[in-house]
Amino acid sequence: MKKGFVFDLDGVITDTAKFHYIAWKELADSIGITIDLEFNEQLKGISRMDSLDRILAYGGKENDYTKEQKEEMAADKNANYVKLLEDLTPDDQLPGVKAFLDEAREKKVPCSLASASKNAPFILKKLGVYDYFNAIVDPATLKKGKPDPEIFVRAAELINIDPSEAIGFEDAQAGVEGIKGAGMYAIGVEGHEPLTQADMTIKSFEELNVSELLEL
Ligand code: BG6
Ligand code: MG
Repeated sequence: MKKGFVFDLDGVITDTAKFHYIAWKELADSIGITIDLEFNEQLKGISRMDSLDRILAYGGKENDYTKEQKEEMAADKNANYVKLLEDLTPDDQLPGVKAFLDEAREKKVPCSLASASKNAPFILKKLGVYDYFNAIVDPATLKKGKPDPEIFVRAAELINIDPSEAIGFEDAQAGVEGIKGAGMYAIGVEGHEPLTQADMTIKSFEELNVSELLEL
């Protein structure tokens, strides 16, 4: 029997990967590194600074900048990203998400958020689903990023359930690995890349209903 749900945000509740891509591409272009959509797949689920490190390594510039310069670059990227988020509305929820959250609320199933994004509360509010979450992990308090299980273990703790009683939702390979590492049941929301290690994969939340999942 399962008792609670742990959600990733980007790529699960809404599709922000396109905005991350636009903002990272602009930053990368400004320092002479060309990234493409295929490379962008590797940034899913990865923290802001780890993403910048991957871009610099991809362009062979991993030793070219000081910590302060990198912090400035990450802040510039984020400022552009947040500008793009301004236009988010409840219409940007991915299909089936709202109905699923409504059913979870009705059945009093606790939900928590395990997103690497420091913009998560802002995005949830823009989408009109902030109140559906009983807890949101603050990624600034974590020692390690995904694929480490830490964020998922914390997300289960915050809703007072054991990871074995939780179902985790993820669109990124690093995230699915984290969910499995935490000892949870993993549902992969598949976009471009196939997700290995997931216990179940779906194209959208429209395929799911809460009661059936609780029986797992
Ligand atoms: C994850 C995204 O949800 O959040 C990553 O998949 C992103 O691409 C990470 O880098 C951190 O997001 P933010 O909003 O804190 O820069
Ligand atoms: Mg994601």
